[in-house]
Amino acid sequence: MIRIVFATNNANKVTEMQAAIGSSLDVISLREAGIDIDIPEPHDTLEANASEKSRTIHQLTGENCFSEDTGLEIDALNGEPGVKSARYAGEDKAFGKNIDKVLSKMGDTTHRSARFRTVISLIWNKQEYLFEGVCEGRILTERQGEGGFGYDPIFVPDNSNRSFAEMNIAEKNQYSHRRKAADKLVLFLQNQTQNA
Ligand code: IMP
Repeated sequence: MIRIVFATNNANKVTEMQAAIGSSLDVISLREAGIDIDIPEPHDTLEANASEKSRTIHQLTGENCFSEDTGLEIDALNGEPGVKSARYAGEDKAFGKNIDKVLSKMGDTTHRSARFRTVISLIWNKQEYLFEGVCEGRILTERQGEGGFGYDPIFVPDNSNRSFAEMNIAEKNQYSHRRKAADKLVLFLQNQTQNA
């Protein structure tokens, strides 16, 4: 089985990604790889932040690895919070405060379209590859559901009337931005290993 390090400290993401990838890859979290650092995300694009994370971990471990960066892009807020999604309401990265800020900035506008966009940066045999996944949807006027993380309680994907926070991981993965990017990553790795 191929071993690969996932450059994140977010346990929810590791669970989602392992569910998306299935048993074809052995996904190792940073903690399992013995690394305890908070990787900076200083750039103004998801792509640049994802690259920085995977390159940092590759330098530390020498192993094949990947990272991902995700942003929620709300049309009525000119694409905010976007690359600032984690720290939208402050450096403490508090999910609750971030949601409050979005809801208050949007007010009762009926223009509620938004999307989650994920970029994965893979370092494979010392080369970098990027994969993107997008999930279109809309922002609710108030929270719905208890599950998930981040902006899940206020985001409803297209073709559903339930928020991500009302879905289990398998359901969320039918729509998820992260799942779509992960599918591309898995396909790439399957091709690489089959042709090796
Ligand atoms: P990160 O920089 O990739 O960790 O993601 C930035 C922020 O986007 C996170 O702190 C979450 O608030 C939010 N986020 C990322 N993925 C999701 C998701 O699948 N659902 C809800 N919020 C998410």
